[in-house]
Amino acid sequence: MQPWKILVTGSSGLIGSEAVEYFDRQGHTVTGVDNNMRRVFFGPPGDTLWNLERLKGATRRFSHVTLDIRDREAVLALFRDNRFDLIVHCAAQPSHDKAAEIAFVDFEVNAMGTVNLLEAARQHCPEAAFVFMSTNKVYGDAPNEKPLQETATRYDYSDPADYDGIDENCRIDRTMHSLFGASKVAADIYAQEYGRYFKMPVGIFRGGCLTGPSHSGVELHGFLSYLLKVALSGKTYTVFGYKGKQVRDNIHSYDVVRAFEEFARNPRPGEVYNLGGGRANSVSMLEAIQQIEALTGRKINWTYSEQARKGDHICYISNLSKLKSHYPAWSITRSLDSILEEMVAAEREHSQKAGV
Ligand SMILES: NC(=O)c1ccc[n+]([C@@H]2O[C@H](COP(=O)([O-])OP(=O)(O)OC[C@H]3O[C@@H](n4cnc5c(N)ncnc54)[C@H](O)[C@@H]3O)[C@@H](O)[C@H]2O)c1
Repeated sequence: MQPWKILVTGSSGLIGSEAVEYFDRQGHTVTGVDNNMRRVFFGPPGDTLWNLERLKGATRRFSHVTLDIRDREAVLALFRDNRFDLIVHCAAQPSHDKAAEIAFVDFEVNAMGTVNLLEAARQHCPEAAFVFMSTNKVYGDAPNEKPLQETATRYDYSDPADYDGIDENCRIDRTMHSLFGASKVAADIYAQEYGRYFKMPVGIFRGGCLTGPSHSGVELHGFLSYLLKVALSGKTYTVFGYKGKQVRDNIHSYDVVRAFEEFARNPRPGEVYNLGGGRANSVSMLEAIQQIEALTGRKINWTYSEQARKGDHICYISNLSKLKSHYPAWSITRSLDSILEEMVAAEREHSQKAGV
């Protein structure tokens, strides 16, 4: 197979950096675009420069461009100067709470930035596979309408038909999304449209909780990463609502990128896939706290706030059936236990280097 020329946006972030490393290892040439805007959103703890430096050392055919995806002329020029075979679009304002404070910026990055990239691809390389990283927040709080049961440590679906989780038929309108969810809906629908209307090979992946050792976890985004940071630093974690029994399904960034690769090899224009850890990798806040305490041998200081985050899911498990049926070579390869072990080791190393 000929090596690909790949563009990764958000290349210093969690998923983007995994994509850079993975595709570089496969012998492809990767251009990464990131302007470290995560630091602008979340302050110094969100800074991703450490990850960019790490990538430069860990890769062979990676080049980085400091470019803002809102800058339409710069995006068009990048596509004029390069002929990409694959675009992996991960740059975003990723936090639903943050979006309410910065509505214009959130929309410009998530919605407009995505249109800039889709249109640049249509003008310059319409045959290139285009992967858009969307989110389960496009379903807003509609998943909360599923009948639930409460156990000692979690909420769970009470109807056996829901056992495998939320599938792509869940409705996306007439629900509360947060502004972040709404700007991602705009981008998600645009990406579908470039697939359906222009027949471009665009795939839309609606993420559950994406995680891994390269997350610059902050309170407002990256729950496992931030919980681990708190556990190891002795700070205090706040659990928001639902008695700490809200459930998330967690997927390692490697398995996310493997799904992108399968799609890129055999793209289906305009298809939408839920992509999370599935039931086996699901965990509630209370369970995650217990598991991390057992793993680190440290008690986590946490407090409880009655007020749940607006539009937050009570129990969200991604139904992976569609993805698995379209791409049988793809599966979850990293269990929740192994994800946590890897993240603890990485966080310890990271804090040692930072002298914390
Ligand atoms: N992490 C999760 O749990 C999760 C869940 C569902 C969906 N997603 C989606 O997956 C994608 C990747 O998420 P992530 O966790 O890797 O996020 P991340 O914040 O770790 O990475 C995003 C990167 O994009 C960069 N960026 C932001 N604005 C930019 C701009 N205007 N121009 C160029 N670069 C910019 C940031 O600096 C950051 O490095 C996002 O679209 C996010 O909405 C993430």
